[in-house]
Amino acid sequence: MRTHHCNELRSEHTGETVTLIGWVNSTRDHGGVIFIDLRDREGLTQVVFRPDDSEEAAKLSHALRDEDVVQVTGLVSARLKTDDVDTTNTDLSTGDIEIVAKELVIVNKAEVLPFQLNKELSNEDLRLKHRYLDLRRPRLTNNLKQRHIITKAARDFLSEEGFIEVETPILSKATPEGARDFLVPSRINPGKFYALPQAPQQYKQMLMVAGVEKYFQIARCFRDEDLRADRQPEFTQIDIEASFVNENDIMGMIEGMLSQMFTQARGVEVPVPFPRLTWKEAMNTYGSDKPERRIGMEMVDLSDELKDCEFRVFSGVIANGGVVKAINAKGFADISTGQIDKLTKLAQEAGAKGLAYIQARDTDRKTWRSPFVKRMTDDEIEALRTKLNIEPGDLILFAADQWEMACDVLGRIRLEVADLQNLLEGNEKLDFLWVTEFPLLAFDDEENRYVAVHHPFTRPLKEDEEKLHKGELDGLRAQAYDVVLNGYELGGGSIRIHEAELQSAMFSALGISKEEAAEEFEHILDAFKYGAPPHGGIALGLDRVVMLACREDSIREVIAFPKNNKGAEIMTSSPGTATANALRDLRIKSTYVEKPKGE
Ligand code: AMO
Ligand code: AMP
Repeated sequence: MRTHHCNELRSEHTGETVTLIGWVNSTRDHGGVIFIDLRDREGLTQVVFRPDDSEEAAKLSHALRDEDVVQVTGLVSARLKTDDVDTTNTDLSTGDIEIVAKELVIVNKAEVLPFQLNKELSNEDLRLKHRYLDLRRPRLTNNLKQRHIITKAARDFLSEEGFIEVETPILSKATPEGARDFLVPSRINPGKFYALPQAPQQYKQMLMVAGVEKYFQIARCFRDEDLRADRQPEFTQIDIEASFVNENDIMGMIEGMLSQMFTQARGVEVPVPFPRLTWKEAMNTYGSDKPERRIGMEMVDLSDELKDCEFRVFSGVIANGGVVKAINAKGFADISTGQIDKLTKLAQEAGAKGLAYIQARDTDRKTWRSPFVKRMTDDEIEALRTKLNIEPGDLILFAADQWEMACDVLGRIRLEVADLQNLLEGNEKLDFLWVTEFPLLAFDDEENRYVAVHHPFTRPLKEDEEKLHKGELDGLRAQAYDVVLNGYELGGGSIRIHEAELQSAMFSALGISKEEAAEEFEHILDAFKYGAPPHGGIALGLDRVVMLACREDSIREVIAFPKNNKGAEIMTSSPGTATANALRDLRIKSTYVEKPKGE
């Protein structure tokens, strides 16, 4: 139907007769001469309809409306460019030429669209309802292309490295990754349910026992959890597992793969190896296990300097085994009261009792605005000045609490301050890093038991293995690693347990009884009895990788048909209701009815 696409013709094509097909992106009427920009997936080309060149086409062109599908045949002509007049368009790669139309076929008319494609639209539900139109926008078309390029780069890299792509079941058994499962009732096994995989974790480990050695999969994963900008109930992982490897093998391989993916998507060099931080260092310095390091503002510990401070909020916390940590928001002393209140509220929502601050307006401490600075000695002030490098105009923010809480709270405040100060605007740097030595277990106060920080198949550090066997569970570290880019967790993985005995010890640490373990995980404990190789792996969140490569701030922008923030895919209205017959076949009696209050 065409000889060229709409981003192909250049001045060297002048004089050729060509046929293009696509959508009318815009029309302009210049005194009876109609200009249109014709659009296809690749770009735009200007077409001009002049009565002198073809009366019939020119007449027909008056009826053209945005988004009509049209086929145009005409002559490629150089646009006029003299000292006086310049009709070339440097914004368009085809801007040196235009097509002088000889024939026009209106292939399919478009009704007036529910929204304009060339304007940003804040009503996301409307965009998603007509996603097929939304995806016509060049930004989204480009995101889909980038996703393809990045996925292909990963596939090519892994194939090259000897990994083979294996599919694992979607209708499967629950595997714990910390989220709620989506369940699918089985018609032929009444009362039984499949779980959609939160990740192919157990299957890929079984493939290692099966001798596959190097596996990967572009795997769909399903987690019934609250949605966020970087979370969907249905998402895609680049899932990887390998036998006979250690942490360094996996990390080195992922560095190579990510660098290839970003080089192909963004045309930039990605320096390898990535820096590494232990979880402890990351929390201590950035208050996060996925640190955004590009904003500076590293956290400083002042517990030694402030342990005798007259300000009881600080000295009291330290006396109780807690810490005082602070950040210096450079040049932000003129923060408004409203902004301070907002930060304080954020700290309190995160579990802090308050947020202490100093607005260091000038060098002299008398000019400092703060609820407590008058209660500090000169020595304490000098210690703050040195450790925090306080200069006139700086804002100092403090958290006083138990270590993990203080780190977490100040970590959140740090990100919010960076946002208020617009510190990242226009920053194109890609800051990749590894976070290693995660805790193996975390104590869950609500459930009153230990839970796995990563998942129950993660191996403890060699030096902590003995403690797990003995049931000494405090402070155990894992052979687990996350790869982080610009404050986002791109992926996470670990070296696994491959011995039935150690796996049983882990289940028992998690409060899973022998009987429960036998029922839920018999396959894995069994498999480990028959010569399971040492193995480990990782999964990268493909949606997040593409989001960052495309400079988007929500993964919805890089998924063709995402769910909205209520978990609905509104173009097709899913989830939908089921007919009584379908429910009867599944032996599901009726939908759950909320009990009235008080019953
Ligand atoms: P984990 O649970 O850390 O590990 O997931 C790996 C990566 O998947 C992405 N991700 C998500 N992306 C979008 N929406 C979600 N709801 C979502 N949840 C996770 C993140 C995350 O880093 N089986 C292990 C991997 C392993 O040990 O090999 C696992 O799934 O980018
Ligand atoms: P107060 O003396 O309780 O009025 O608190 C003085 C300042 O200390 C206020 O700005 C509080 O928000 C702040 N504050 C109180 N508790 C803490 C804490 N645990 N960590 C940091 N700041 C705190």
